Amino acid sequence: MSITPIFSVPLLVEDIDPTVRDAIHAKVTAYLASERANRDIVPSPEESVATSYYQPAQVLTDADLRELEHFVIGVATRFLEELRLPGRRLEIERSWINIFKPGAQEAQHSHDGSLLSCSYYVEAPKDCGCIVLPDPIGARRSYRQYTKTAGSDVLTRREIAVEPQPGRLVMFESWLPHYVQCNKSDQVRISIAMNLREASPQVAVSPARGAAAPTPVIEPPRESSATSVGVPRARSSDAKPFLFNELFEVRQDLQLNEKPIGNVVPTIVIDDFLKHPEEARDIVGRAPAANWKHEKGGRNFVDYYDCRLRFPIRPPNSMIAAAQQVIRQVYSLNTRPSDASMDVNWFMQIHDKRADFAVPHNDMTENVRRSFTCIVYLNRREECSGGTAFFRFKKSGSLVLDEPYAKAMQEDSRIAETGLDYWGGGAGVWWETVGTVDMVPGRLLMFPSEYFHAAYHPQNSFFEFPRLTLAFWMVC
Ligand SMILES: [Fe+2]
Ligand SMILES: [Fe+2]
Repeated sequence: MSITPIFSVPLLVEDIDPTVRDAIHAKVTAYLASERANRDIVPSPEESVATSYYQPAQVLTDADLRELEHFVIGVATRFLEELRLPGRRLEIERSWINIFKPGAQEAQHSHDGSLLSCSYYVEAPKDCGCIVLPDPIGARRSYRQYTKTAGSDVLTRREIAVEPQPGRLVMFESWLPHYVQCNKSDQVRISIAMNLREASPQVAVSPARGAAAPTPVIEPPRESSATSVGVPRARSSDAKPFLFNELFEVRQDLQLNEKPIGNVVPTIVIDDFLKHPEEARDIVGRAPAANWKHEKGGRNFVDYYDCRLRFPIRPPNSMIAAAQQVIRQVYSLNTRPSDASMDVNWFMQIHDKRADFAVPHNDMTENVRRSFTCIVYLNRREECSGGTAFFRFKKSGSLVLDEPYAKAMQEDSRIAETGLDYWGGGAGVWWETVGTVDMVPGRLLMFPSEYFHAAYHPQNSFFEFPRLTLAFWMVC
């Protein structure tokens, strides 16, 4: 004889990588302590717990929890695959933080109207209460209670409890009722609740080759549109276009400061270089950034995010014009930009840093006679920390690229910037700091590219917001 369970209810429990778990914990802790989070405390209509950060529709975005979003979407996609459901693109419909103080519990409820729901545990001390999923067939539950035939296996149990753990995700179909046991610990239990739905279809509209790009116009969504596939055009983003040359416009009354660093590195500093430093910070700080170097076994996306944004430049550009004028005035050289684009270096820490500066390097490229590095600091005043450091290569005592450095680099790859580790290793063995230029909002720093330099972060900062520096090179 064999008894077959004829219907089943899927439940998924998955633990996130401990490194990512710790990064999420740091971000949530900082977010909860921020002005913003405290302003947004509104009880969720779905959860009965008192303290819920429900006001922003997406706490994942508000608290910059992209790694959690990626993890959840990935897990949910595999969950649907396991259920042999047709593949579909998923998105987070809503996400919010629940804080259970000692003694708090949550009544039974479901998240009807969504596809999948889940809970991710940020803090889960011992005895803080399990999430419990009662058998959704109420009649059977009562029967088990009444006949005292309840057991612990799949055929006899009345409910199933999952113990929360920091970094654990519990996912189920949204209709499934659940409740949370009383927090019997003396610490808070912090979880992030998320509802998922199928994402609206994406329609890519690209201009024909060779045709001029249309001026972006924000139009209200229309019932029907002229796209070839006949799908109504969906606006799935609040992103707004901007004119690069306007956003990064240079001020007219520039004050040139030729202050050599340590009396040896001929740096040029121009303060208040940009007309709209705050706006530039806002826009580049909000743009999604992709990885810069990302080597197998490297530390990028493990210890920190080392990313870049690249913007095309169209002449005339006032930053290029100002740099040309300064180089002509100081070095009597005519220069041109090395690239038809400018980069924003976008760096954020996940874990504590391991050095005060990144791997020292020079910016020389082949086939140029002279090259000048131009860096504009974009962070707000309260975000600024460190700046740019300059170095002497101990082996030769040189401040600039020379033979002993090139030879040493061939012998020991740790001297070079390989992309494996932003912080490098054993910096003190090879490098002596000769001086630094402070990061000041809207400040332009220029120096001949052959000088050894590196990003300098003496404080353990840049966890909550990225370190943003615009960089371009002038060559001749
Ligand atoms: Fe819930
Ligand atoms: Fe550099």
